[in-house]
Parts: sequence; structure tokens; C-alpha cells
Amino acid sequence: APVPLAERSIVLVGLMGAGKTTVGRRLARRLDLAFVDADAEIEQAAGETIPEIFERHGEPAFRAGERRVIARLLGAAPQVLATGGGAFMDPVTRANVAARGISIWLKADLDVLVKRVGKRGDRPLLQTGDTRATMKRLMDERYPVYAEADIIIESLEGPHEAVVEAILEKL
Ligand code: S3P
Repeated sequence: APVPLAERSIVLVGLMGAGKTTVGRRLARRLDLAFVDADAEIEQAAGETIPEIFERHGEPAFRAGERRVIARLLGAAPQVLATGGGAFMDPVTRANVAARGISIWLKADLDVLVKRVGKRGDRPLLQTGDTRATMKRLMDERYPVYAEADIIIESLEGPHEAVVEAILEKL
């Protein structure tokens, strides 16, 4: 039998800079659920930062760890889970989320994303090349897949609080 809605975790997906962590934290508070950041869990499990994991072990090893950690988190009590931008691209993770979670895509414009990621320099995928061009390429690759999410929220320039309200209305 399918997992009842009340037993499902809420899984935020979307590109870097979409606001998954900030929105996730606030959403969790509103729903009185725990908040977990998958990237932070991966770092804790590995005992290394994400840039270190990419550098020392390569992206495929990071993706394998990401898949394991998210599967584990989805097996726990319902919570709000922010995932790294690439997580939902993995077919196993998508299947796990479909089985046990409710996925929410925080969809944002390129301009907004580029402005937001500019503030943080710790993302391995943005270490080389032009940030805008990389983000555009990731948008083209990922948006068709993110579109499989259960709920889509257009998070334009507005404050994260408005995004939280929009999610609460759609849940
Ligand atoms: C990645 C996004 C990052 C992190 C890693 C790879 C991606 O998470 O998982 O750097 O592939 O888009 P955020 O989306 O939280 O920045």
C-alpha cells in the first residue's frame, strides 16, 4: 500500500540558489517538523566538506553518497528535507522520493539564481567557468526532470516567507 501523506517527508528540490535550505527551515518550523539538510548530512557521514569530497573522491562518489544518505533520511520519521541541486537527477532518488516523500520544486529564474549563488563560493560545480553559463546549462538539463516533482512553486524574487506560504497552501 502507498505510504499515507501524513507519513511522508517533504523533499525540496531545485537548483543551487533556489532557497531550499532557507525555505526548508522555515517550512519545518511552520509544520512543526524537523529540518534536515542532505548536503550537511553527507558532510557529516563523510567527515569531509562537499568540496573535499568532490576533490578527493570525484563527483560520482559524491552522488553515490548522496543517494544513500537521502534513502536513509526518507526511511526516518517525516521531516522537511532540503536536497542538493543534483540529487533529484538520480533515478533511484526520484523513485525513493516518489515512494516515501512529497517533492516540491522551488523554481526560480536564472537571474535570481545567479544573483543568489554569487554570494557563496563553496560550490564545486561553480569553481570553474562562467557562473551564469553553468547555471543556464544546469537549468536546461535539470528543469525537465525537476518538473516531475509533485508540487511546483515559482519562487520569484519575493521573500522566502511568501514561498513558505505558497507551499502551505498547496500541501
Ligand atoms: C550541487 C548542489 C549543491 C551540492 C553540490 C552539487 C548540484 O547543493 O549538493 O555542490 O549538483 O547542483 P545546493 O543545491 O544546496 O547548493
